[in-house]
Amino acid sequence: MILKANPESLSQAVHALKKNECVGMPTETVYGLAGNGLEPVAIARIFETKERPTFDPLILHISPSMLPRIETWVTFPSPELKKTFEICAQAFWPGPLTMLFQKKPIVPDLATSGLPEVAIRMPSHPVAISLIDAFGGPLAAPSANKFGSMSPTRAAHVEKELGDRISIILDGDASAVGVESTVIRILPNKIEILRPGGVSAESLTQATTLRTEFSMNPHSTLSASPGTLENHYAPQTPLLILPRKLVGGPVQELKNWVHDQKKKFGAKNSTLILFSESHADKYESGGVDLFEQSICLSEKGKPSEIASNLFSILRQTDESGTHIIFVEPVTEATGLWPAIHDRFSKAARK
Ligand code: TXA
Ligand code: MG
Repeated sequence: MILKANPESLSQAVHALKKNECVGMPTETVYGLAGNGLEPVAIARIFETKERPTFDPLILHISPSMLPRIETWVTFPSPELKKTFEICAQAFWPGPLTMLFQKKPIVPDLATSGLPEVAIRMPSHPVAISLIDAFGGPLAAPSANKFGSMSPTRAAHVEKELGDRISIILDGDASAVGVESTVIRILPNKIEILRPGGVSAESLTQATTLRTEFSMNPHSTLSASPGTLENHYAPQTPLLILPRKLVGGPVQELKNWVHDQKKKFGAKNSTLILFSESHADKYESGGVDLFEQSICLSEKGKPSEIASNLFSILRQTDESGTHIIFVEPVTEATGLWPAIHDRFSKAARK
């Protein structure tokens, strides 16, 4: 059931968490499926509810009041790494950054899928902070969708996917960031980005003066960041990214390609997802649109708006009855663009 967040619903949610149940929790990135992060029974419930394989580890969510106690759960291999962590925490917490740490034994192996590192994040959403504080300990929370499906950015999305499996979904309105947190590993002379997200690579470099490196070799996803598996964030409707080399070139070539893809998927009807309204004219030929429908993620092509609308528009398009979804290719590599590109490429049919 969706409950407006207030003192009464928060205490109901805490009561459920103490019984090792999971609850839907709003965060500024996406909604999470929260459970007691230090209790294997609760963690097992999370995996079961999401139908998530247990080799895909979870993020522990802490509140600002718990920061002084971080070494309850983690150890720092050196004072230098601790210093960099403190700089990142100062700059980006609370907010969409998840950091990996060496875990202490108090963190259950099930939370980390047996890995020696634990992922920790401090969300900025006031309802998440209140819930974590009222519960009094870290909450494990993956995105509150079934495994492989699109992340939820509204309470109603959670209700639709998991409403029959959990009793409480706290409503904290639409998630403002809209894509998940950036997952990083701090090393002595660089920062590895295991999942691009709400905090950009450039802002990490600016804060720490360390270089960043995207470490998403598809051959090592399982050992690097197990959540970066293929077929994530996928709608039911086939989704294809328009080939970069065809966009902006002769329209006829693009038209032929679109025609071929529609034929291949038996699609009579297609929808184009645009990043900006000003891009629309690239996708018409002789005044006729190449796609039956189009929907725009941001009027002026603003990355923060694109990110925040991404999953809700993807869901909406998926449910619209269209036969195939096409998306513009991402052509920029800074700021939120790598996260936007990552979510669409994982949603795309291979
Ligand atoms: O924004 C977010 O991070 C959202 C909200 C709810 O906080 N949570 C989220 O959780 O996206 P989830 O479980 O859907 O994704 C967690 C990501 C996965 O890619 C996972 O592989 C990675 O974090 N991760 C967690 N623990 C890890 C570890 N010990 N080593 C490597 N990657 C880890
Ligand atoms: Mg997820």
